[in-house]
Amino acid sequence: MKPIIIGNWKMKLNYQQSKTLAQELANLANPVDTSNNDIVVCPLHSAFLLVKEILKDSGIKMGVQDIFWEESGAFTGCESPKFLADAGCQYAIIGHSERRQYLGETNEWIHKKIKGALDNGIVPILCVGETFSERQQGLTDYIILNQVIKALSGIDLVAGEELVIAYEPVWVIGSGRAIDPAEAEQAFRVIRQAVIDLWPLTIVETNVRIIYGGSIDASNFREFIDLEYFAGFLVGGASLSSQEFWQIIKNI
Ligand code: PGA
Repeated sequence: MKPIIIGNWKMKLNYQQSKTLAQELANLANPVDTSNNDIVVCPLHSAFLLVKEILKDSGIKMGVQDIFWEESGAFTGCESPKFLADAGCQYAIIGHSERRQYLGETNEWIHKKIKGALDNGIVPILCVGETFSERQQGLTDYIILNQVIKALSGIDLVAGEELVIAYEPVWVIGSGRAIDPAEAEQAFRVIRQAVIDLWPLTIVETNVRIIYGGSIDASNFREFIDLEYFAGFLVGGASLSSQEFWQIIKNI
């Protein structure tokens, strides 16, 4: 599958900065050739429509950093997958480690969110990864496998539905140092095996992209692009600089 490069803006930009970054990306894209890769940005929900409007002719696709599972109802503060899909959202990050860590996001919620996204035609970007202490205890493969299985078991990915799974070692996120690419490749294998156990190989090969996230920047991304099963990046910090993000996009 063609690689996907996703910018996770987190809660790091204010309104004006979001506008400026979107404008810079629109200028660089002009519009971008999407035959080589897919490019997605995930601003805050509150900046979604603003950024979408600026990027409307750029070829860059829109995503969000979280989503709720119900389409409508008395759920104060939640973001409906149906509403977002109608508003032009094509991707949703689900189960990011910062939400697991600070907001008590559980595997059960993550599973429901994946389902809610898929039911509304939104591509879930499921994030999985181990903490440093889990790695030290030799639990990396187990943690990844467990997170993938809990999120996806019982979901029947069918033709036409896509999924992105981002391996993001928690201890590497925002650290400025990416993981050893060989370790990322090992995680890709574990994830791939887990999804092969769930769905037919043809679906896995055409509809599931496994990507890496965690301190990727313009200086280190090349070390990952030839890894087996590599299909893209989830980029945090480096996606806040239009030039740096574009360096990565242009060279994949
Ligand atoms: P980082 O963030 O690139 O700043 O490490 C990645 C992520 O959290 O998605």
